[in-house]
Amino acid sequence: MIIGVPKESFPGERRVALVPTVLPALLKAGCEVMVEAEAGAAAGWADAAYAEKGAKILSSRDELFKRADAVLQVLCHGANDRTGHDDLKLLRRDQVLAGFLRPLGSPQTVQEIAATGAIAFAIELMPRITRAQPMDALSSMATVCGYKAVLLAADTLPRMFPMMVTAAGTISPARVLIVGAGVAGLQAIATARRLGAVVSAYDVRPAAKEQVQSVGGRFVELELEAQDAQDARGYARAQDESFYRRQRELLARVVAESDVVIAAAVVPGKRAPVLITRDMVARMAPGSVIVDLAAERGGNCAATRPNQVLVEHGVTIIGYFNLASSTPNHASLMYARNLTAFFLHLLKDGKIALDMEDEITRETLVTRGGEVVHPRVREMLSSPPPQTGVEHGA
Ligand code: NAI
Repeated sequence: MIIGVPKESFPGERRVALVPTVLPALLKAGCEVMVEAEAGAAAGWADAAYAEKGAKILSSRDELFKRADAVLQVLCHGANDRTGHDDLKLLRRDQVLAGFLRPLGSPQTVQEIAATGAIAFAIELMPRITRAQPMDALSSMATVCGYKAVLLAADTLPRMFPMMVTAAGTISPARVLIVGAGVAGLQAIATARRLGAVVSAYDVRPAAKEQVQSVGGRFVELELEAQDAQDARGYARAQDESFYRRQRELLARVVAESDVVIAAAVVPGKRAPVLITRDMVARMAPGSVIVDLAAERGGNCAATRPNQVLVEHGVTIIGYFNLASSTPNHASLMYARNLTAFFLHLLKDGKIALDMEDEITRETLVTRGGEVVHPRVREMLSSPPPQTGVEHGA
């Protein structure tokens, strides 16, 4: 089994699918690893470090795809809407492809991959079951994003985060509000707390209250009851517009009193709900900062501009995409560990076994034998979702 790791081609992407430290486990399982030259360079891993762990370095991307039985990537076609298309002609029948594919956001690209005959796995469809936790790349990337969002906010805010008692008097701590306490939101709470901020958070899922408190945040109680807030997979369910209207009304005061808002509220396969209106932005103190981690999904803040920073009423609104890529070393290390655990799970006697009785295989497999095989993706292909309904976190 030859595993090929191409250099990521999405403009500005700095992560890499495998890092040298995971190679021994793959080699031990009987795999060979081939890495495109410079694939890990932007994440801090030189070709020599891969070679030292037994990988072969190839300078030609075409040759890498030709020789590999399995291609492991961060952003595959679908998740990479700029250059991902170029890899389609390199894929072949029964070649394995694994990485982020954004299958529910752009199901038509899954169809294009299916047409190559490749066996593709979308890592973002990993089920949320205990034994799949080491393979949960979405959670890993969300962790990095939550951490980085707070650092960006702290760097932008014209005030300090911790309370300080100094000879020049007492400096009050920053007030940070997190909206959406999923994996990214919880990491943002923990990071803001480490920096000394006073942190509050809100989430529609009732279970989030305890999780917020466990990382040192104060849960914001809103007089609002979500209908069936959580689905069986642990994700939030979309609410109707009257719920969101009421949520905005109730959140307005808390937002106005915050120096920093980190917005990380999303619903899988849907456009992110708008929870912060332009009017709410105008009521924040000048110098305040909003980091909209939902920007890629349309944004939780009405003023957010995709992948940009803007200042409105003196409030800085950061809507960067792909924050995980800005901490490429650890993001790649975590991703590589997730992907390796997944790949080893699929491997039986040196070959990829498609055991459809296994929930992990069944839920992540999207194409096989020239067809889209994932029921949810197939369903979406017969009635395509709106353009904004994209996946997250990659
Ligand atoms: P996500 O990235 O899909 O969404 C982020 C957060 O936004 C969620 O907590 C969601 O409830 C919240 N949200 C949605 N609409 C909202 C609204 N209108 N207002 C406020 N918040 C809103 O979620 P993520 O980060 O993937 O985690 C969701 C849950 O799954 C968490 O409880 C997490 O701990 C759990 N989880 C479980 C795993 C496992 O069992 N293996 C792995 C990863 C996460």
